[in-house]
Amino acid sequence: GVSLQLAAGSINRMYGSAFSEKMLKTSSKARAVTLSQCASITPEWSLKWDNLAPNPDRHDFSTADAVANFARTHGKRMRGHTLLWHQGVPKWANAMLQETREWDLVRSYFNTVIPRYGDIIDEWDVINEPIEIGDRGDGLRQNQFMHVFGPDYIEWALWTARDAAPKARLYINEYGLEYFSPEEGQRRLTLLRLLERLKNRGAPIDGVGLQAHLDLRKGTIYREGVYGLMRDISDLGLGISITELDVRENETGGEVEVRDQKVADEVRRYMDIALQFPNVGSVTTWGLSDRFSWLRYKDGGRRDNRGLPYDEEWRRKPMRTALESAF
Ligand code: XIL
Repeated sequence: GVSLQLAAGSINRMYGSAFSEKMLKTSSKARAVTLSQCASITPEWSLKWDNLAPNPDRHDFSTADAVANFARTHGKRMRGHTLLWHQGVPKWANAMLQETREWDLVRSYFNTVIPRYGDIIDEWDVINEPIEIGDRGDGLRQNQFMHVFGPDYIEWALWTARDAAPKARLYINEYGLEYFSPEEGQRRLTLLRLLERLKNRGAPIDGVGLQAHLDLRKGTIYREGVYGLMRDISDLGLGISITELDVRENETGGEVEVRDQKVADEVRRYMDIALQFPNVGSVTTWGLSDRFSWLRYKDGGRRDNRGLPYDEEWRRKPMRTALESAF
């Protein structure tokens, strides 16, 4: 078989994976497979605000620079994940936002981080996860930025990012958009309304990141819903990136072959829809090997989820075949 980056490249897409400092520092296998399979990497934590600025008087770029230098050395691109995320804001910054209500804090943060990686990042998740249906009437999340600045914070963030990165593509990244349920239906609708409003107002938005954390506990993906969402995003003239693809299983134990096939089938269903759209420019899985998957720490840390293309021993699984043959 061919590498995933080559398979994706043959139809003009980029394949990438989340990549962590832990993978970089502790696993030669993780480094090797990342280099052979990926055209781009997404820092799994390193670029998040709380990691870059643990305290107010000092930035710490050591882990982000280590990951970025790995990408630079080997000619890889990096996805900029992420600037504003409710879970990734340092405590001191939350306090300062509350107290001063000054957008300047966000502006100076963007101006510090964006140019530093301007040579390898051409796509930024400016806002991560701005939707939470229960929070407000409009479906937007009542996060710390909403709380202090109101719904315009989304536009301000885009404009502020645009100032610091005139040439980068600016994205909003979101999850929970793949399944048939009232909740996910509302989430799709909220996202489309938000995008439409931003476009109408001339805000500098270039595209949408669809995280695609698939989840077999929710059944199988809702094809019409996924297709409709991608079509409507495309009709707005926006780009699409699949940013965090993986699969959460609905069982533990059981025949590994059966489980792996279910995971692969779900990925294939999703990919076959996504790749119908020429503006889906990249597909990123949230890791490569189950050994380093964040899903190991979900569900009470049951540690045996098999939702990535390689197993714990870095053997290829049916999910990898599904990706390669979908490209
Ligand atoms: C997760 C990482 O995988 C974890 O290791 C970290 O502790 C928390 O963040 N949606 C996102 C990602 O946008 O940033 C999250 O990544 C997973 C959910």
